[in-house]
Amino acid sequence: MVSTHPTGVKHSGSQYLPQKHSTNSNLSPNQQLLPLTARVHHDLLEIGGCDVTTLVQQFGSPLYILDEETLRSACQQYRNAFKQYYKGESQVLYASKAWNCLAVCAIANSEGLGIDVASGGELYTAITAGVSAEKIYFHGNNKSRAELLYAIESGANIVADNWYELQTLVELAGKQQPVRILLRLTPGIDCHTHEYIRTGHLDSKFGFDPGDLDQVFAFVSQQPALNCVGVHAHIGSQIFERQPHRDLAALMVQWLTKAASYGLTLTELDVGGGLGITYIESDDPPSIEEWVKPICEVIEEACAAENLPLPKLLSEPGRSLIATAGVTAYTIGSSKVVPDIRTYIAVDGGLSDNPRPITYQSVYRAVVANKMSAPLTETVTIAGKHCESGDILIKNAQLPKTEPGDILVVMGTGAYNYSMASNYNRLPRPAAVLVANGEANLILQRETYQDLIRQDCLPERLKS
Ligand code: LLP
Repeated sequence: MVSTHPTGVKHSGSQYLPQKHSTNSNLSPNQQLLPLTARVHHDLLEIGGCDVTTLVQQFGSPLYILDEETLRSACQQYRNAFKQYYKGESQVLYASKAWNCLAVCAIANSEGLGIDVASGGELYTAITAGVSAEKIYFHGNNKSRAELLYAIESGANIVADNWYELQTLVELAGKQQPVRILLRLTPGIDCHTHEYIRTGHLDSKFGFDPGDLDQVFAFVSQQPALNCVGVHAHIGSQIFERQPHRDLAALMVQWLTKAASYGLTLTELDVGGGLGITYIESDDPPSIEEWVKPICEVIEEACAAENLPLPKLLSEPGRSLIATAGVTAYTIGSSKVVPDIRTYIAVDGGLSDNPRPITYQSVYRAVVANKMSAPLTETVTIAGKHCESGDILIKNAQLPKTEPGDILVVMGTGAYNYSMASNYNRLPRPAAVLVANGEANLILQRETYQDLIRQDCLPERLKS
């Protein structure tokens, strides 16, 4: 008999397992819990044709596992949706802050995506991965002079965020070619997501205030050192509502009209990212197509109404491209029963490899990779191993009975996990493997204790 795990994964077995979705291959990757290639074989979880417990034996624990097919499929869905619904030119940029490393940038690049970078380090990684500079867009509210110079010299697009940056760019541009910029504007659009990941409301550190719009357009139109080609906005992250992006698209077309009144012909419009994903069964984000379509429609209608040519439409998804493609495998260790209160089960990682629960109270789901068909009889709290009471990965997880050595797989960890990982308590950061068609390739080496002290300096007088 084939039934469906809460993760949407098909498996054969006789146990009842609650369902999130009926098996539906039309779900967009951002609407699933497990990667698209997840299968259960003899009670064991496979991803990308690789048995997860074997991956942990081979590459160690904890382990980030990235499913290539899920990532590529999300890239393709974005690209195809823009092709289908937008008559003008479009370019999807991968917001690499979600997971920036050589292999991920190379995959996004090979799928025809450009890359959004938010620091010199992300820019360096994208360039080293072979992404051509004209497809890189550099963001940030306080880029240093060195970062700006690096972006100018490499030929990346710069998304100018504030007056200080515009002035610095004018100075740095010197006599070289004009610097290709977009302007980041604060749209004043609110959305319902965690306050730390909302960026489009007026009280945001990002972008020019809407009250400055005229002055900004007037300024850049007078600067031969600046080649302003477009506008950018980003309203937040993990958004399920559809209206804010519709409103944003309409507002941004008004910006194009205003820019034209200053003699600026802006040909690029970048709506940012923000589409949410399913972390738990009750999360119900729009599919990639459902997110793209209204944005395209609103822009086409507004441009027709304003008699403007269609701009090149850029978007910058991060989470919805990669979150579901990634899982983290941990090994279960100690446990503690607090009578009548809760049972803690501890794993060999925690807030250093996934700081999202402690930072945003984010919720996750987990499965036990070596007990996929066992009944979910236990309600336990998954604790990390850090010296911090708040280091809890999942509260009240529904799991089968576990024992030390079992492999716990936390789902939806492809975005903002590795990229926000730290060495708190001097834990070496985990390795990451890319899985596809039964093959696993290391894409990030596990840090070693030597790596941890690589940057340490011991002054001569302290040596014993
Ligand atoms: N573009 C810009 C300018 C952004 O600031 C961001 C995310 C994105 C695109 C991509 O947004 P996405 O499609 O991933 O929602 N660390 C937080 C998320 C911070 C998002 C920051 N900016 C988290 O773990 O939830």
